[in-house]
Amino acid sequence: MKIAVLPGDGIGTEIVAEAVKVLKALDLPFEMESALVGGAAYEAHGHPLPESTLNLAKAADAILFGAVGDWKYDKLDRPLRPEQAILGLRKHLGLFANFRPAICYEQLVGASSLKPELIAGLDILIIRELTGDIYFGQPRGRRVATDGHFPGAEEAFDTMRYSKPEIERIAHVAFQAARKRNKKVTSVDKANVLETFQFWKDVVTEVHAQYPDVELQHMYVDNAAMQLVKAPKAFDVVVTGNMFGDILSDEASMLTGSIGMLPSASLNSKNQGLYEPSHGSAPDIAGKGVANPLATILSAAMMLRFSLNQEAAAQRIEAAVQKVLVQGLRTPDIYSEGTTKVGTAQMGDAVVKALG
Ligand code: NAI
Ligand code: MG
Repeated sequence: MKIAVLPGDGIGTEIVAEAVKVLKALDLPFEMESALVGGAAYEAHGHPLPESTLNLAKAADAILFGAVGDWKYDKLDRPLRPEQAILGLRKHLGLFANFRPAICYEQLVGASSLKPELIAGLDILIIRELTGDIYFGQPRGRRVATDGHFPGAEEAFDTMRYSKPEIERIAHVAFQAARKRNKKVTSVDKANVLETFQFWKDVVTEVHAQYPDVELQHMYVDNAAMQLVKAPKAFDVVVTGNMFGDILSDEASMLTGSIGMLPSASLNSKNQGLYEPSHGSAPDIAGKGVANPLATILSAAMMLRFSLNQEAAAQRIEAAVQKVLVQGLRTPDIYSEGTTKVGTAQMGDAVVKALG
């Protein structure tokens, strides 16, 4: 089982170190190899996704990824910015299906900014399409406007687009995931305004005909944003495009107590996957040893489940995370009165110990 380890920038290196610690403690025959990515790779090789890093990722059974980015790279040309590394990996490996399970652990109900009764027992799955939409659509760029409200003015533009096969395959992923859960899918769109998302809605409806046992609901994205904080438990599987999924999953992270609790899996059609926390490199807390490593550790559990066929080991990690929360250990982002504040490494050590 070959794992490519790509820590990246900021807290990426701190949290990935803890996940690696946990993986090593499982005593399974992993081959782990690390490489630079993002700003760290730019500093060393002049490119955020060097050929050598991409090749390591392509050859691996799974990729454990931290986070990339830092404000200090904001002035670089876009192709050289750290964030291009994660977009490049998603594109080159065809990682179109992004799973973001938002689960509220019983012990963290009090850490959320929402009323306990709204989130107690929450377990929803956001499935975000990851290789299409306005994040990848061409053409894009800057130019002088020839029409619109201000002809002659400088303007910028991006293109939102989805092909039928792109929507079909993510819809199948969502309906199949729903079959293993509560058989309910909410497809989030903006069909009332955007042609791309009227098409999305039409294609999802068409695919749904093959899953008569699953309930399908359509919802506009603005309403979905509201419903997610009003009655989050009314959702089960949510499927949506790249941009809406990006925003809604950050919103959903707060239902779990902290973005530091939200893992993710990004899969291609061969079940090869990239596993990363849903958050970024958090430059504001980087280097301080306070980042929450649990989202990354839980991402490693998803890696064992989806790409490495090690369900028992995945459950061992998830049980260990639950155990440290029961023990009352908390990084600052999930701290509440009466619990014990710990740092990144202490949290990782506690999970290792809890593996038993
Ligand atoms: P962010 O997710 O890095 O941070 C948002 C807020 O959440 C910050 O206050 C941060 O301290 C906190 N936070 C994030 N992870 C945490 C953790 N594990 N424990 C405790 N607190 C945590 O998003 P932001 O600040 O918008 O972006 C920072 C950089 O990360 C940017 O360069 C951005 O482009 C990049 N980024 C990279 C991603 C990736 O590598 N997949 C995803 C999102 C952002
Ligand atoms: Mg995001």
